[in-house]
Amino acid sequence: MAADTLLQAFATPIFLRKNAGTPELNATIAATIRGLEARHESDDAHRAHQGGFYTKGDFFEKQDLPGVTEMRAVAAKAVVDYIRQVTGRKDMPSRIQIISWSAITRARDYQTPHVHAGATLSGVYYAVAPPRPEPQGCIDFLTPLDLKEMTFLKGDSNTYCRVVPEAGDLVLFPAYLKHYTHPFFDDGDRIVVVFNAHISRD
Ligand SMILES: [Fe+2]
Repeated sequence: MAADTLLQAFATPIFLRKNAGTPELNATIAATIRGLEARHESDDAHRAHQGGFYTKGDFFEKQDLPGVTEMRAVAAKAVVDYIRQVTGRKDMPSRIQIISWSAITRARDYQTPHVHAGATLSGVYYAVAPPRPEPQGCIDFLTPLDLKEMTFLKGDSNTYCRVVPEAGDLVLFPAYLKHYTHPFFDDGDRIVVVFNAHISRD
């Protein structure tokens, strides 16, 4: 009897969680990040961005600021759930370290294609992301399989994966996965919390 199995080898798991945080958290964390922008210069070292305000990479250590503790818990839960779903294992890696920064972008700001070198997983949480005509404000992930892009089922296989963000969305992906963001052109802004998870099993 014929029996078919499709092995999805070398898949690239991108995790999208809707309503990962509440509207109340979004308002609180947005106010916190706006406050940081009012008091600090943008940390622009080693960034792939054009324009925008970026905090330093100690955002999750600022537990005294409103919303940060809850935001950190939202990120940590997503990381654990991602690992469970991707590995199918119940035992967690012995070391999961998460660092974070936050950002505000406005009209015409964008990020050039980049990876988060050195990390295992990277994530972005959208606290403020008003509806915009696609692709404005979207994040695109590029296929890491260059050979596939060259030849495989040309016209039928995607070369990128786009996420159209909404407030409360959390996107989690392998840190090696190259991505970039599209600019938008209205008078609003976009406020995100970005994090890197460094994960290992001893
Ligand atoms: Fe990034």
